[in-house]
Amino acid sequence: MKLTIIGSGYVGLTTGACFAEVGHHVVCVDNDPKKVETLLAGQIPIYEPGLEALVKKNVAARRLRFTTSTEEGVNHGEVLFIAVPTPPQPDGSVDLSFIEKVAREIAQFLESYRVIVDKSTVPVKTGERVAQTIRRYGKPGVEFDVVSNPEFLREGSAVPDLMKPDRIVIGGNTDRSIALVQKVYEPFAAPVLVTDINSAELIKHAANSFLALKISYVNALSEICEASGADVLKVAEGIGADKRIGREFLKAGLGYGGSCFPKDIAAFIAIADQLGTPFTLLKEVQRINQHQLDRFIASIREAFWVLKDKKIAVWGLAFKPNTDDVRSSVAITLVEKLVAEGAIVSAYDPKAMEKAKALPVASSITFAASPLEAAQGAEALIIATEWPEFTSVDLAELRAAMLAPIIFDGRNLIDPTAAADFGFQYRGIGRGVVETRA
Ligand code: UDX
Repeated sequence: MKLTIIGSGYVGLTTGACFAEVGHHVVCVDNDPKKVETLLAGQIPIYEPGLEALVKKNVAARRLRFTTSTEEGVNHGEVLFIAVPTPPQPDGSVDLSFIEKVAREIAQFLESYRVIVDKSTVPVKTGERVAQTIRRYGKPGVEFDVVSNPEFLREGSAVPDLMKPDRIVIGGNTDRSIALVQKVYEPFAAPVLVTDINSAELIKHAANSFLALKISYVNALSEICEASGADVLKVAEGIGADKRIGREFLKAGLGYGGSCFPKDIAAFIAIADQLGTPFTLLKEVQRINQHQLDRFIASIREAFWVLKDKKIAVWGLAFKPNTDDVRSSVAITLVEKLVAEGAIVSAYDPKAMEKAKALPVASSITFAASPLEAAQGAEALIIATEWPEFTSVDLAELRAAMLAPIIFDGRNLIDPTAAADFGFQYRGIGRGVVETRA
């Protein structure tokens, strides 16, 4: 099929590459000429495992191309996917101006029937607005349908998430448009759920909010575990073994971050408020997430008495492993707070240092070339992102590098017993303090 993706960011680019991989002919549109130039040169502007190879392969096979021209995109695709950003506004509600602008542009170039699919995460009822806008600005008599098809890809595993999805949600109001979008997904052989547009839009916010709720639930449990001497890892295992609960998203830590959860939860709260049906449970999810970082910092302060001038190593800056993304990263907020209290921070991240160097806090910290270099002369080590490579650092070498042996493990990555055996005091999340045994 001939497909067009408007917006070549994280979602648009990965979706375009995966559609091309299964045989579709895809045009990706982006209004940033520099980005299009980079993509045409075979480079991708983000770190995402497997994506660059997929883009190169499909560009070479002439199934994937990039352009700045929306007109070219609208002419090419039978189905036009909108994948532009929907950033948050200061009150948490979603800024839909990019969606509205694309809808107007599509209307301007629409000459014959097209299905316009909204892939961006949008508030319920946005599809109705998109249809209204295209009708208003389009040529009279030109037919189109609007469909909602939310994406559920995770950064770091975006390609496998897209190639082997748990489910495809298609929300549409006509058989013709639903059949066309179903055809797009046929090669993926995944379960398809067909709904009306509003339900599909709601599914996205409801899914992300539920996942965030699971994280806040286990994080709230972690505080109770610390107060009672229980181990949150065991408690999570015990409840997760119940199939109705499930093991995923029960990892206690510093809380959720990234470009999706904080924004989507705030948006869902705003949407529910606007609908006159406040979702107060989600406000508590947000509060617990914030509290988790606050109490982690309080425990560091408590251990040191005074944080000013303490040399602290921070391992991990990305909002989660396998990505270079530092947007709304809890690790970055943590570093900012430590710096604000006068701590001297030396940070290391396997992939996210380049992006972190562009942030305002970068001028107040040093960046190390390895985990051990960051720990050199440090009075404490904080693990802020659970990169697998941190587990292979030699604890004896780490102990020798550090001035004082304390590990604050914000992601429960290190084995507390091993750390204690190598002479560390270990403080995880929801596991109490393990004193040194060396
Ligand atoms: C998320 C959704 O998973 C995805 O379906 C949606 O399309 C976009 O938002 P992503 O933001 O890439 O994906 O990251 P995810 O893997 O879901 O992690 C989000 C945050 O939660 C990270 O900061 C992670 O560290 C944290 N997390 C996750 C936990 O603290 N504990 C867990 O058990 C799982």
